[in-house]
Amino acid sequence: MKVLIVYDSKYGNTEKVAKLIAEGITSTEGNEVIVNHVKDVKLKEEASYDLILVGSPNHFGRHIGSVKKFINKLPQSQLKANAYAVFDTYIKTDFETAVKRMEEQISEVMPGLTKASPGLSIKVEGAGTSKGPIVKEELPKCKEFGIKLAQG
Ligand SMILES: Cc1cc2nc3c(=O)[nH]c(=O)nc-3n(C[C@H](O)[C@H](O)[C@H](O)COP(=O)(O)O)c2cc1C
Repeated sequence: MKVLIVYDSKYGNTEKVAKLIAEGITSTEGNEVIVNHVKDVKLKEEASYDLILVGSPNHFGRHIGSVKKFINKLPQSQLKANAYAVFDTYIKTDFETAVKRMEEQISEVMPGLTKASPGLSIKVEGAGTSKGPIVKEELPKCKEFGIKLAQG
């Protein structure tokens, strides 16, 4: 399986989640994963993936602007995928709120894209600073999410 993971991250927590998911996916032999910051994704180059994963920190109850823009550009891009799944990081009580909004947006702009799995929402510490780190008990969920996706 060929997978593209696209994320944005202000303080590095969502990036860490992206890398742990990648570890989970590549723990199954034969899978290939590219992990890209949203600013580094080349939308004009032809590329096709079995799965695209999109991750964002929760800002004000939703995914951040760069990720929103990226999703909007997907239908006109040269980047093709068969399926998608999303992940977010959050601090307060906003479990899955950015996940839900990303899923809504993706299904709106690319109605033909299959959702490979329900999204992953990972809690970070640091009320007041927003900087994390990821809540310790949440860490294993990231790799497990990747392993499950790899198993199909
Ligand atoms: C401008 C801003 C707004 C935020 N708004 C929310 C919010 O509405 N709900 C929430 O749970 N976390 C909120 N957070 C906390 C972020 O979710 C947290 O900083 C993020 O998960 C850390 O991920 P990162 O290290 O990848 O940036 C906010 C953070 C910032 C900087």
